[in-house]
Amino acid sequence: MFTIVSAETKRINLQKSKEWKCSVCGYIHRGNEPPEECPQCSSSSKEYSELKDKQKLKFDGEKFDVLLINGSSHRSHNTGVLVETAEQTLNRKGISSRRFNLNELDIQHCWCCYSMRDSACTYPCRNQLDDVPALHEMVVNSRAVIVASPINWNNMSARLKDFLDRLTCLQNLYLLKKEGLTTGKVVGILVNGHEDGGMKTAMDIFLYFQQMGFILAPFGFAYRTHGSQYNAKTDNDFFKDDEILKTEIEGIVINVIETMNQDLETKLKDKIVPVSE
Ligand SMILES: Cc1cc2nc3c(=O)[nH]c(=O)nc-3n(C[C@H](O)[C@H](O)[C@H](O)COP(=O)(O)O)c2cc1C
Repeated sequence: MFTIVSAETKRINLQKSKEWKCSVCGYIHRGNEPPEECPQCSSSSKEYSELKDKQKLKFDGEKFDVLLINGSSHRSHNTGVLVETAEQTLNRKGISSRRFNLNELDIQHCWCCYSMRDSACTYPCRNQLDDVPALHEMVVNSRAVIVASPINWNNMSARLKDFLDRLTCLQNLYLLKKEGLTTGKVVGILVNGHEDGGMKTAMDIFLYFQQMGFILAPFGFAYRTHGSQYNAKTDNDFFKDDEILKTEIEGIVINVIETMNQDLETKLKDKIVPVSE
């Protein structure tokens, strides 16, 4: 038996159903719930958020301790497990933090004004069109940054690289002989992947921070790969259940906190010679 649904009913149903957006590929789904698996990129429903008018990211001006960056294309998958553990540890230790999943943000490629001439790369960044200027403010107004990335081709994710490239205006302050805003801040780095490139990826990430005067916390990076007995379908369980990973991340977070609490940013003020590329 067929039920005839009038065009009017269809229109009303459509109005009633919600719109969901995949934070990985941008697919829009209509319904009361997000799809279990994204039909366009296979991400899980956790990557979906209800579609709302997107507000540009703003910084409220309040200083805080740790900026936590999830550099993955997937906010809720393997790198998300690392970030979640880090966030829980920060909360347990009573440390103020703000977490950002880069895949939810609007981050344009660096315009690379610096490549035209040194002085063309200014802080604040000349590109005020996306969410990065607010992130710049958060880097400047936090005391430490913890960055997490999946390994992609033995390197960090492209999303993270886009974000880190955009920090050039902070690094360039030193070259322009202006007051640096990041000397003595602390960085911790978390990396995960299937098999290869964990150490290289962590070091590649560190080099950005090193050139902005950040200090790597002692035992300040952890990487974990699961090896060939797992695959992309089963690895999330590996990362979620892995006690070594949990212990290491908690260790990194504690090391970042302890180093941050030495307040080297204040102690080193005006004492460091910026030797930048
Ligand atoms: C484009 C791409 C390149 C990758 N390259 C590597 C690699 O070089 N080494 C490695 O161990 N894993 C590699 N992987 C696997 C990811 O690091 C792994 O799936 C990771 O856990 C994904 O994190 P996510 O769930 O947060 O996206 C790669 C994955 C993709 C999509």
